[in-house]
Amino acid sequence: MGDKKILLIIGGGIAAYKALELVRRLAERGVKSRAILTAAGAQFVTPLSLAALTGDQVYQDLFSLTDEARMGHIELSRSADLVVVAPATADLMAKMANGLANDLASTTLLATDKPVLMAPAMNVRMWQSAPVQRNAETLRRDGVLFVGPDDGEMACGEFGPGRMAEPDAIAAAVERALTGHAPLKGLKALVTAGPTQEPIDPVRFLANRSSGRQGYAIADALARAGAQTTLVSGPVAIDPPRGVKLMRVTTAREMLAACEAALPADIAVMCAAVADWRPQIAHNSKIKKGGQKNDQQNDQSLALVENPDILASLAGHAARPRLLIGFAAETDDVVAHAVEKRTRKGADWIVANDVSGDVMGGTRNRVHLVSAAGVEDWPDMTKTDVAEKLAARIAQTIKGAA
Ligand code: CTP
Repeated sequence: MGDKKILLIIGGGIAAYKALELVRRLAERGVKSRAILTAAGAQFVTPLSLAALTGDQVYQDLFSLTDEARMGHIELSRSADLVVVAPATADLMAKMANGLANDLASTTLLATDKPVLMAPAMNVRMWQSAPVQRNAETLRRDGVLFVGPDDGEMACGEFGPGRMAEPDAIAAAVERALTGHAPLKGLKALVTAGPTQEPIDPVRFLANRSSGRQGYAIADALARAGAQTTLVSGPVAIDPPRGVKLMRVTTAREMLAACEAALPADIAVMCAAVADWRPQIAHNSKIKKGGQKNDQQNDQSLALVENPDILASLAGHAARPRLLIGFAAETDDVVAHAVEKRTRKGADWIVANDVSGDVMGGTRNRVHLVSAAGVEDWPDMTKTDVAEKLAARIAQTIKGAA
């Protein structure tokens, strides 16, 4: 990365300790850090450790004569190529979203003419609160970049979004922001995600436990890598990633039609947990317990017919994507099933995972990448990291083949 410099603003939160690791990870990538430590941040990390790691003075006080004499806050705000706020607390986000400038960190954020990248870190309820979400939206509209927050267990013992992104993920986001790195620029990607719902009657359906998280994270990673990305999603309860074209569908047949409409695409990642079967009859009115007369109810069984296989259909399509990737959620013999599925369905790669635990609704994933070259076992990581790594592998492969 040569001689790139960032200004790192460290807010007050338990995640502040990860800022020290971030400085090291950035240094490994050739990025120098200069740090502003807020008063609250100084409760969690010491200026001395920061100074030792950055090899520079740490700036703390807007009204310090010595600080201002060395480098005024205006100059400080412009001396770097990028301003990174990690951890970005609810307080720092609120100040920047509303233009407050009452300490060195907020004044610098307001005075900078450089891009700003925030890594939020806070309790899950704080992150989900209306004011914080409003401020995040305002900041995004103002052009502020975000990395995270991740889902997971937090220092306070609660679970959900709010955990600061890991130093590696922040370092990768810094690198992207500094270089405008977009390895998939000019390419089109298609991603499916979530479950499908197959109606039995107007109030009932057949479905599965897919949360859509992994597919949404992949669509996000591909879009951030520069691909023009379409996400065909079954019904899920998560927000669509920014910059992605979202097509909402309910049934497998609708998902297939939406995928075909999205072709041609260079890359397709079929992450959806498509229902293999649908009820033969979708009743127009609610089936009563006492029963109208029909075959399905007389013996209280549900006649099913097979759904189209979307992955296999794309494999045989005249406009087959250059890189066609399927998923295989298995509970037993994970890799063996995936190897067989890859050939049976005509995919280039199968990303196989073991869903015998709570992976389908969870935030972590342990996958195996099955390709013609063999099987790669990836370590247990967050679904965001799986997406990041997969997008990087896709970029490598597509570029290598170009
Ligand atoms: N898939 C699909 N259309 C279907 C069923 C599955 O496109 N009707 C895709 C999934 O999106 C995934 C891959 O095929 O990428 C494997 O899905 P999976 O459910 O594991 O495979 P099945 O063919 O359903 O095999 P089985 O249920 O026997 O494990």
